[in-house]
Amino acid sequence: MKLQIINGPNLNLLGIREPEVYGFSSFEDYLQELIRRFPDVEFHYFQSNVEGEIINKIQETGFSFDGIILNAGAYTHTSIAIHDAIKGVKTPVIEVHISNVHARESFRHHSLIAEACKGVIAGFGLDSYRLAIEAINNKLCLNKLK
Ligand code: DQA
Repeated sequence: MKLQIINGPNLNLLGIREPEVYGFSSFEDYLQELIRRFPDVEFHYFQSNVEGEIINKIQETGFSFDGIILNAGAYTHTSIAIHDAIKGVKTPVIEVHISNVHARESFRHHSLIAEACKGVIAGFGLDSYRLAIEAINNKLCLNKLK
């Protein structure tokens, strides 16, 4: 199974950035844990602070991969272009957030991409990514409803 994990803006600073919200681990360290835990999954990881690069990666992997796990960071709340990219591909996309966005500032309560995604997981720290992989593993993402 081939999975693409995409992290958006400022998520390259995980472990350093607001650790009381996002934790003390870098994503690279956490990824090693995922690789150990899911030996049958071929993981591809991409991080970008640039909206267009995130869109390019969705288009590049969205017709051949089994799933895309997307933490679009703040673009979640602003990007119609990422919404459209998700709608334009075949691979199911799961929106993830480390923090519980609904328990934070009101500008984080609305996602412009959720409607285009198969599901949303938020608030479980880095474990949100593992839960998304479990969903794909358990075939909960088959028959992308569009
Ligand atoms: C985030 C939540 C977003 O509101 C924020 O802009 C982020 C991270 C999360 O994983 O909790 O950058 O997506």
